[in-house]
Amino acid sequence: MELSNRLLEIVNFVPKGSSVADIGTDHGYIPVYLIQNNISKKVIASDISAGSLDKTIEYVNDLELNDKKYPKLGDGLDVLKPNEVDTVIIAGMGGILISKILENNKEISNTIENFIFQPMVASKELRQYLTNNGYIIVDESLAKEGRKFYEIIYAKRGKSNIQRDIYYEIGLKLIENNHPLLKKFLEHKKNEIKEIISKLGNNDSNNTKSRYEELNRILEEYKEVEKEIDSK
Ligand SMILES: C[S@@+](CC[C@H](N)C(=O)[O-])C[C@H]1O[C@@H](n2cnc3c(N)ncnc32)[C@H](O)[C@@H]1O
Repeated sequence: MELSNRLLEIVNFVPKGSSVADIGTDHGYIPVYLIQNNISKKVIASDISAGSLDKTIEYVNDLELNDKKYPKLGDGLDVLKPNEVDTVIIAGMGGILISKILENNKEISNTIENFIFQPMVASKELRQYLTNNGYIIVDESLAKEGRKFYEIIYAKRGKSNIQRDIYYEIGLKLIENNHPLLKKFLEHKKNEIKEIISKLGNNDSNNTKSRYEELNRILEEYKEVEKEIDSK
């Protein structure tokens, strides 16, 4: 089974020989790929929804991979025992839900070495949570499918020091590594902001004015990031 660009960028961050928990696995594509390609020796595929986990179980049964891949039904990290895995993947959910999953079970999150996140929305809030709660973002990547961009964050436990607020919006590692999709991603983000600005219209209320100023400030920051990339 071929993985989509988004799922491929996620599995690219999984260290070879790792033991992995894919939290919110749904279809189970990531766990099966990790086993079939000998990237992981053991994978726990978990989901809070019995219906979702059934899809995984059915897929695994078809492939006869049961001895290396363990389905578990449950909420977030609660399905894990301390040190049961070294790598956790939480993908395809909002950034705030991802941070709640980490926050809700610190006994487990403190024992994990590698975290791979793919927030569908609120990546800024997730980066803020990570920075303020003893995580360090060691790398980031982007994937594009059709017109949609996806952000993938690889983090470990550690202390980080984010110098500018814009690096919560646009991951610093994407800039440092001059990620091949970064320019297009920035263009996409600028267009999103311009569209919101155009919808704000000519309303003179204080709320609209402050929103307008805020959006223009973000737009200027995106332009500064573009200059930072161009100067490399
Ligand atoms: C959109 S799917 C993402 C599937 C897959 N991870 C991906 O990226 O393609 C989100 C999945 O997360 C599961 N989920 C939501 N909250 C969860 C939680 N607290 N713990 C475990 N799974 C959860 C949902 O049941 C759903 O199957």
